[in-house]
Amino acid sequence: MCGIVGAVAERNITPILVEGLKRLEYRGYDSAGVALVEADGRLQRCRRNGKVAELEQALGQAPLNGRLGIAHTRWATHGAPCERNAHPHFSGGELAVVHNGIIENHEALRTRLQALGYVFTSDTDTEVIVHLLHHKLDSLGDLTAALKATIPELHGAYGLAVISARQPDRILAARSGSPLVIGLGMGENFLASDQLALRQVTDRFVYLEEGDIAEIRRDALQIWDVNGAEVQREAVQYHEGAEAADKGEYRHFMLKEIHEQPAVVQRALEGRLRDDQVLVEAFGPQAAALFAKVRNVQIVACGTSYHAGMVARYWLEELAGIPCQVEVASEFRYRKVVVQPDTLFVSISQSGETADTLAALRNAKLMQRGYLGSLAICNVATSSLVRESDLTLLTQAGPEIGVASTKAFTTQLVGLMLLTLSIGQVQGNLGRASEAELVAELRRLPMRLAESLAMDREIEKLSERFTEKHHTLFLGRGAQYPVAMEGALKLKEISYIHAEAYPAGELKHGPLALVDGDMPVVTVAPNNELLEKLKSNLQEVRARGGELIVFADREAGFENGEGTQVVNMPHIHDALAPILYTIPLQLLSYHVAVLRGTDVDQPRNLAKSVTVE
Ligand code: F6R
Repeated sequence: MCGIVGAVAERNITPILVEGLKRLEYRGYDSAGVALVEADGRLQRCRRNGKVAELEQALGQAPLNGRLGIAHTRWATHGAPCERNAHPHFSGGELAVVHNGIIENHEALRTRLQALGYVFTSDTDTEVIVHLLHHKLDSLGDLTAALKATIPELHGAYGLAVISARQPDRILAARSGSPLVIGLGMGENFLASDQLALRQVTDRFVYLEEGDIAEIRRDALQIWDVNGAEVQREAVQYHEGAEAADKGEYRHFMLKEIHEQPAVVQRALEGRLRDDQVLVEAFGPQAAALFAKVRNVQIVACGTSYHAGMVARYWLEELAGIPCQVEVASEFRYRKVVVQPDTLFVSISQSGETADTLAALRNAKLMQRGYLGSLAICNVATSSLVRESDLTLLTQAGPEIGVASTKAFTTQLVGLMLLTLSIGQVQGNLGRASEAELVAELRRLPMRLAESLAMDREIEKLSERFTEKHHTLFLGRGAQYPVAMEGALKLKEISYIHAEAYPAGELKHGPLALVDGDMPVVTVAPNNELLEKLKSNLQEVRARGGELIVFADREAGFENGEGTQVVNMPHIHDALAPILYTIPLQLLSYHVAVLRGTDVDQPRNLAKSVTVE
């Protein structure tokens, strides 16, 4: 998704802006640009459709030098990906803006501004911001005052940054629905949509809150809150985690992140287990009191995080005896929800900035006769979701750079298992013996994950069967059904092969019509009470000539045969099987994508953190 970088300094900032954009590349984008006020006081820009490398090359041929500038990677929403629509957008040759988000009333504003004589040069919603600001600047004469007058007229979501040749000592920034962070330097200051972009220049950050407007100068910072009152926001020191944002020995971030899973799952458990019990305090000091009152759980998330929530539903109902509903955030946020009494609202998100998930949390908090409290299961400690929830469990996965989520998912599942055991423990619904057994299994989980990663070569070989295919079915039953959904999502995201997941029992109610020799059917089959039923479902596929690939427990009794390829998995407690069986599906989609030559870490059309609706 779109990225913003800005800098005001005493040195040429072009390299800082370009490096910042490179660090945001992983989020997915289709064009890039920079704008600077040069020494002669003129505003200049360079924009390119395509990768930051192309922008860098263009800047190599026609360098821009300046001490004040903003830069952007654009992920198209309004208007096709092309140079004309790339940010920064200009007005009057003296004002530049970069913007993440969507301005919903852009059509009305465009008509008004055109009537005032402004000429639009792009198809974007963003361009209305810069012309409106220019109009205000003409009457007010001061950029800060002009931005404050512009903001109330913008409807929608934005994180934006503005510079002007008229006042070349400052960057103006505003945030509503799209994150912004200020990086503090020595005699220089920076701005970005993600602190990752600025780690090359500082480790001290100030996070803007919803509705904030900031004036950032080289040696001063002023912030006004949503009510216009000047506020001080605390500066946070960032400590680099173990995993730096580089690929190390791996060919892709995704592969590195898949292989990190034993270590990050270990870290997700650290300090959260004592002897044979889960430490409920891991969720915060008030967690035990809150969990004691919980009668229902409502989980809300998007994409892969939603699949984690779907697995948790099986766990919460079966192990903790708590009714649970799971819904995608984009639906939940617009539904007239009837809240069951004593319901805990749980949001799951890697980034903690997904627009739909955040909006769902905000709506949930506003509901009359609403939720008992909110819990965020999230990977980013400084995210909006964490800051706005009552309780938090950080997943401790470290930075996830590959657009396709891998280690974030498995650590979310660990967090959700800890939640299940905590509620079960506090309410006495889970016997001591069951808790002790599951805690022992959790302690063994990193080792089991390492064993499944050792199957990499075998799965790489298997992936050759998929390179020419156009469609794949994924099947699972019980808590493995969401695992099948996650497998299908991974395959389609990075290999662009159409894939769908079904609960195996649903096959004969329609999708069986698709099965023929050209349709691989991937199945996850741990050794549980649904095994025999699953075997019958698979017979239905074989009888129609479908090719089966079965990831099965060693003791499940599956054998290789004509049209059936079995991959034996390490034995694991059934409750934790969804975590283990995710690994081979991640590896499978990774290798299929590599064979098909796609951009594994930045698949087409996708973005890492979806900060627009
Ligand atoms: C898929 C993927 C997405 C995200 C979804 C939610 O591999 O990464 O489906 O899971 O966009 O993102 P978060 O978890 O950041 O809220």
